[in-house]
Amino acid sequence: MDKIIIEGGRPLNGTVQISGAKNAALPILAATLLASGVHRLRNIPPLRDIRTAKTLLYHLGATFEEGDPLSVHTDSVDGHEAPYDLVKTMRASVLVLGPLVARFKKARVSLPGGCAIGARPINLHLAGLERLGVKIELKHGYVEASAKKLSGNHIYFDIPTVTGTANLMMAAVLAEGKTVLENAAREPEVVDLARCLTSMGGSIQGVGTSVITIEGVSELQPMDHTIMPDRIEAATYLTAAGITRGNITITPCIPDHLEAVIHKLEQAGMEFQISEGSIKSIGAKVIRPIDIKTNPFPGFPTDMQAQIMAMMSLAQGQSIITEKIFENRFMHVSELKRMGADISIEGNTAVVRGRSKLQGAPVMATDLRASASLVLAGLAADGVTEVSRVYHLDRGYERLEEKLSRVGARIKRVSE
Ligand code: EPU
Repeated sequence: MDKIIIEGGRPLNGTVQISGAKNAALPILAATLLASGVHRLRNIPPLRDIRTAKTLLYHLGATFEEGDPLSVHTDSVDGHEAPYDLVKTMRASVLVLGPLVARFKKARVSLPGGCAIGARPINLHLAGLERLGVKIELKHGYVEASAKKLSGNHIYFDIPTVTGTANLMMAAVLAEGKTVLENAAREPEVVDLARCLTSMGGSIQGVGTSVITIEGVSELQPMDHTIMPDRIEAATYLTAAGITRGNITITPCIPDHLEAVIHKLEQAGMEFQISEGSIKSIGAKVIRPIDIKTNPFPGFPTDMQAQIMAMMSLAQGQSIITEKIFENRFMHVSELKRMGADISIEGNTAVVRGRSKLQGAPVMATDLRASASLVLAGLAADGVTEVSRVYHLDRGYERLEEKLSRVGARIKRVSE
């Protein structure tokens, strides 16, 4: 297993190229199942989760021509099962449920278990599909879905769910009649999927709001789609500038996707020069403490909570960080404490009392964003930090150590 070794304490300066968004690419790869033919996808990030998604599509009968664009051939898709081995490595595998049942009227998808950040049930995906006329049975750890036909309906989500909205949008686009998704997720990744489905011939209104209306069509065409830039990767590099008191420009990016994060980083003392497609960030000498509550988009993203906490552990004063999306997303706290951070947790709230320094230490993390937070802490800490379980980072950050080296970090990957 690889380790990342960081010699911290250097401000980072320069430009970082942002990759395509993992969480937009995953549902869009699943959406290729909706139409037979050759799909062309541009800006797909070469990440571990993307490889898992491609393995799943391959298992279902799809083939690929690598490159940018990535071509996905779906004419020979004849499978309908997402096996346990793939779903347990990546729960976003459940995104094939909607497309498979919409096109083939049947799907068998392993029920994902809990994960490091919370229980993460898929009850809302399943209840929504039932409203479209899909029969759902749970058998031997699998969701077995079947339907004679899918019919549009009103679906109300108790909680706005990102992959749940994506799954239902992909099912409803081939259902008969009109579907209205209420309290739908408004995340930019959902908007990117809707753009893609529309380009395939789907009829979708209201994306980016909490009410999405879909008029079903009988058939879709293959897509030619460019994945949006990754807003969480982008925000992670802005935070890298903040925590190291450096200046990092990120490009390409969509500044509107980053408003909540920029607003908070400004409160922390950072400055930003925003232009179309790029953002220059200027770290403050003194990091001011800030209070944060994670929320669905356009609120502060839970996927940035761990990274911002690393930065607040070096603020001049006390920050209160409340995690409102996942019930167990503070696994990075005990590792940050090993680096000298002063953090206490009460329920879903972390009280972070900023210190003037962090110290390098061997650390490990249990999920993707927690690992990113430890890398950020390592970049700012005195001495050497060794981050193990790097496979978590490889799920969601393309060539992280190379991108950071280019802006002046002393960071390398070694095999254990
Ligand atoms: N929820 C339910 N029932 C459901 C679905 C969700 O109770 O049927 C709950 C969840 O347990 C959670 C809340 O609703 O408390 C929101 O979860 P959501 O469904 O929106 O999360 P997700 O779709 O499983 C996606 C991202 C996550 C990101 C969350 C929140 C993908 C592939 N994953 O997950 O990304 O944290 O939305 O924004 O898009 C990551 O990239 O590191 C990551 C974890």
